[in-house]
Amino acid sequence: MAQEVRGVIAPGKDEPVRVETIVVPDPGPGEAVVQIQACGVCHTDLHYKQGGISDDFPFLLGHEAAGVVESVGEGVTDVAPGDFVILNWRAVCGQCRACLRGRPWYCFNTHNAKQKMTLTDGTELSPALGIGAFAEKTLVAAGQCTKVDPSVSPQVAGLLGCGVMAGIGAAINTGNVGRGDTVAVIGCGGVGDAAIAGSNLAGAARIIAVDIDDRKLEKARSMGATHTVNSRETDAVAAIRELTGGFGADVVIEAVGRPETYQQAFYARDLAGTVVLVGVPTPEMKLELPLLDVFGRGGALKSSWYGDCLPSRDFPMLIDLHLQGRLDLEAFVTETIELTDVEKAFERMHHGDVLRSVVVL
Ligand code: APR
Ligand code: ZN
Ligand code: ZN
Repeated sequence: MAQEVRGVIAPGKDEPVRVETIVVPDPGPGEAVVQIQACGVCHTDLHYKQGGISDDFPFLLGHEAAGVVESVGEGVTDVAPGDFVILNWRAVCGQCRACLRGRPWYCFNTHNAKQKMTLTDGTELSPALGIGAFAEKTLVAAGQCTKVDPSVSPQVAGLLGCGVMAGIGAAINTGNVGRGDTVAVIGCGGVGDAAIAGSNLAGAARIIAVDIDDRKLEKARSMGATHTVNSRETDAVAAIRELTGGFGADVVIEAVGRPETYQQAFYARDLAGTVVLVGVPTPEMKLELPLLDVFGRGGALKSSWYGDCLPSRDFPMLIDLHLQGRLDLEAFVTETIELTDVEKAFERMHHGDVLRSVVVL
């Protein structure tokens, strides 16, 4: 029997989001219905609402979530009703060319639920990132559910489903930050702060936080930054070089997604160092660099998609580290809100007032 629950939809381009009754089908083969306990508000939800990702309105927003599996469809063996899970948007297929090359974190054919959730009039919904978790319940592919230790609080666990994982993974998976490395992180929102926390976890010796907002720099320090640079007042490249013996950082993580900050990252790393781009640019942005510098400075210029994470490997591990007191995830939660507050949360996010607002159900 399909169920009716409340969910937050984006009805059309730039229209305010609203709470609607949505119809969640019973799970079919390979699917699961999850009762959502918490879901963070991410920039990508706002981009969906603004029509910046696709025109497939109406969207069922929300994708940084944790909850309890309510029911599973035929053939599902990895999760069972009652399991506490974090939802992911990388349910790896095991069969695409990336998976076959042993690099499943790039999987090019990730799974989502085959059936559609709808409005009560039958209008099909497009769930954000194949999840749609600003809702009391949602339907996903079973592989999108990653079991973790249920003693963690859902509101912090859900954050690993997107932005925080992207930042931590940018440092530990993509950037390969290791013990003793110098790291600079440009842009200290939720993603940049997570990159700082990840670098700290990996044993970086020096972590330089760069932002244009002093409030963000103060927070970055509490996340593990050893030095801060306000790049509105100070030249970021010169400051990072000065703090690294004149050479530049081993790894520079760009968590803004703009050409000028990418350029700073490019020149603020040491010779043969690594740049990790985890900030997401917009289609019109262009980058111009002397090709000789690209060659002459060597090293690696990498992008980090979802922190190059493998949910089944990374989520349980990071939750365990959190429960041991080695990774402060609570620090990312600025406020908890209700389903009806998502529009307000977008506004606060736009003004840079929050790291994360988390809808608690
Ligand atoms: N130089 C340095 N920092 C900047 C600059 C700049 N020119 N412009 C903006 N910032 C800072 C902001 O002050 C803010 O602290 O970058 C940070 C961006 O943080 P958020 O807006 O909270 O974004 P976040 O959720 O961290 O995501 C960052 O990663 O996943 C992507 O789509 C996401 O592109 C976005 C990026
Ligand atoms: Zn695959
Ligand atoms: Zn997200």
